[in-house]
Parts: sequence; C-alpha cells; structure tokens
Amino acid sequence: MLMQSNDYSRVLYEMGVGPLWVLRQAEALTLTEAPMSSTETASLSSDVVEAVTDTPAIPDIPQADALVSVVVSVPAKEIAVPEENLAVLPVHSMSWEELQPVVESCRACGLCQGRKKTVFGTGDRQAKWLFVGEGPGYNENLQGLPFVGAAGQLLDNMMKSLGVQRGDQAYIANIVKCRPTDQQGKDRPPTADEVAACLPYLHRQIELIAPQVIVALGKTAAVSLLGLDMETPVGQLRGKLHQFKGIPVVATYHPAYLLRKPADKSKAWIDLCLAMKSLPIISASSAS
Ligand code: URA
Ligand code: SF4
Repeated sequence: MLMQSNDYSRVLYEMGVGPLWVLRQAEALTLTEAPMSSTETASLSSDVVEAVTDTPAIPDIPQADALVSVVVSVPAKEIAVPEENLAVLPVHSMSWEELQPVVESCRACGLCQGRKKTVFGTGDRQAKWLFVGEGPGYNENLQGLPFVGAAGQLLDNMMKSLGVQRGDQAYIANIVKCRPTDQQGKDRPPTADEVAACLPYLHRQIELIAPQVIVALGKTAAVSLLGLDMETPVGQLRGKLHQFKGIPVVATYHPAYLLRKPADKSKAWIDLCLAMKSLPIISASSAS
C-alpha cells in the first residue's frame, strides 16, 4: 500500500514530530519492484533520508546522511549460557515452536519468581524490522504482550511512520522476558545477570527472524545487544549504525522516555530515518 503524505503527517503528528518531512524519492521507493543496479541503489539510498522542510527549526535529516558513513562495527558479545541450561535447553537450535514453551516455563533467573506471564515477543516472524525494548512492565506482565499501554501506542505510531505494524514487517521483543521490579514493586532495569540469563532467547529469535534492521529502544536494549558497558547513555549510541552479527542496529530513545520528554521525538524520527536508510532499497520500497 502506498503511504500518502497526509498519512505521514498524521503519524508524525501522533509522534509529536512536525512539520511534515517529505521523503524525497518516496514514490520511486514505493514503486520500485525490480532489483536495481548497485549504482542506482547507492544513489537512491543516499536520498532516502533527505528531508524537505520549509522550516529550519527541525534538525536536518542530511545530518543523518552524513552519520550513516560512520559505521561502528561492534562484534556482538557472546553471552555465556549457564552450562546446566545448555545441557537441557539447546536454545540456539530451537524452532519457534520449541522456543516459546521453554521461555514460558523458564526459571533461569530470579525474575521468574514475580512474574504473572512471560512476554515472549510478538509480530511478524519474518519481519524486516525488529524493535527491541528493555523488559515487560506492569501491564505487559499481566497480558503477556510487549509494549501495551501509552508507550506501546507511541511505538505503534513510530512503526506506522515507517509503513510497518505489529505482525506486518515488524516484530517486537524485549531484552528480558519477565518483569523486573524493585523492593517497592516498581519497574526497574534488569541486572547484568538477568540480561545474561535471558539474552540467548532473544539471540535465537533474531536468528529465526533474520531481520534487516534492529531498532534498540533505550539504553538497556542497545547496550545489551551490542555488548557494551551497561552505563553507556543512549545519546552516545545514537546517530551511528552499529551491528549485531552483521545486522544493522540503530539505537534510539525508549518510547516511555519520549512520552516524558516529547522534545526528543524529533531525534527519534532522525534515528528511524537512519534505520530506514540502512535497509536494502528493495525492502524500503515494499515497506510502504
Ligand atoms: N517497556 C519495554 O521496554 N518493553 C515493554 O514491553 C514495555 C515497556
Ligand atoms: Fe528466564 Fe528470561 Fe524470565 Fe529470567 S527473565 S526467568 S531468563 S525468561
């Protein structure tokens, strides 16, 4: 389906990002069906995130254009699966059908104790876009689904602005599958040990999905996927193309943070444009 510019306008309005930026070549991208030559691809892809805007107030997309050449290749850190788990659970070779019940009954870390439901992930298992959050919150723990509630709605709008949605070209997962809470029962980020215990499941999901781009939502998602210091701020990771086992990874702000700080939504839009730019041109064309 061809995404009309007024759809974009509405979605960007929902994200609180305005005025409308028109993607140059959007139509060409949408209509391209045959594979292009590498020269054509290169020239078209350099236009993908060029924005046309009649107000200078918004940070320019060409900035993202320059940044795209800064490819930071971070080898994915191999997370050691506790040996006793490996013996029983060959996670790295499981099918979807095997993996999901294993996660549902997992007791590999302390987070199993307080959970109501594990949150396995949801969406298109052949998605081009994989969005990774931190971990379930209050509502996700009750419903067993990722990103329900206000942050989820913003994430849905972010995906819509890319021409994808849950179950159609997009998959949503988290770094940990069970809700981390503090002594007062409030949400907290997972510890390094909890991340290490749970990450093999996400790694297997990534292998099974084989997405073309991963969007890491927030610090926990980005540093866990990229094997970086847990304290690295998202601000330091934005604006670069990272990679996880050869798949481009773009780090951006967590939707819950964007709800608290809407002024940063325009930066998140730049990040999404960078992610879009990293897609092979053919998949960008079928994204609308
Ligand atoms: N925040 C996350 O990181 N993931 C969810 O699933 C919900 C909120
Ligand atoms: Fe298992 Fe992950 Fe839940 Fe920990 S958070 S119990 S590793 S599914």
